[in-house]
Amino acid sequence: MTERLVIAIDGPSASGKGTLAKRLAAHFGLPHLDTGLLYRAVGWAAFRTGRAPEELAAQLQASELDNPELRGDEAGQWGSKVAANVEVRANLLKLQKEFASKATGAVLDGRDIGTVICPDAPVKLFVTASPESRAERRYQELRGRGVDTIKPRVLAEMAERDRRDSERAAAPLRAAPDAWLLDTSEMDADAAFAAALAFIERKGFRSAGP
Ligand code: DC
Repeated sequence: MTERLVIAIDGPSASGKGTLAKRLAAHFGLPHLDTGLLYRAVGWAAFRTGRAPEELAAQLQASELDNPELRGDEAGQWGSKVAANVEVRANLLKLQKEFASKATGAVLDGRDIGTVICPDAPVKLFVTASPESRAERRYQELRGRGVDTIKPRVLAEMAERDRRDSERAAAPLRAAPDAWLLDTSEMDADAAFAAALAFIERKGFRSAGP
């Protein structure tokens, strides 16, 4: 019997990890959890209601993750702020571990999946790209959604979030020592998917589909 396929994907914002995670999940027929949404939902609710983020994290419901406002940059900044809180992280741990232990296997993406949530995942990817190419992607995405912004601001906000996520004491953004590094600076989504798929297939995993 083949090993249960758990794909752990980490990386900074706009590295392409979310798109890659979705495509790999669809290809292998696996459930996917975007763990950034959990932090975004807690940060957003804490900002809106003034309630303690630890408490909100302990009571988080899956239905809260559907809010389209969570996709915006403001929610990203609030998510990054509450993500430095050790109790918030602890209160979101069980949900993520349970998702990762599904019998089907799973794909999870975030900042600490390969290091903390799924240290034993058979496939770990660390997706990066230069700050300039990540900011360019983010800028194009925001413009596409009709958001009025300028590139220097996108770059500055991204640098602030990178710094906070990498320098915090609790589960900072790090590549697991056994993660495969994928630099997508010069790649589009198709090329990143093809590279990741080739790596996973070299490990002996194949899609069960036609
Ligand atoms: O991936 P994202 O941009 O949606 O994540 C939003 C914030 O949540 C990110 O700035 C840091 C935090 N986060 C985290 O600390 N750990 C994770 N596993 C996922 C996200």
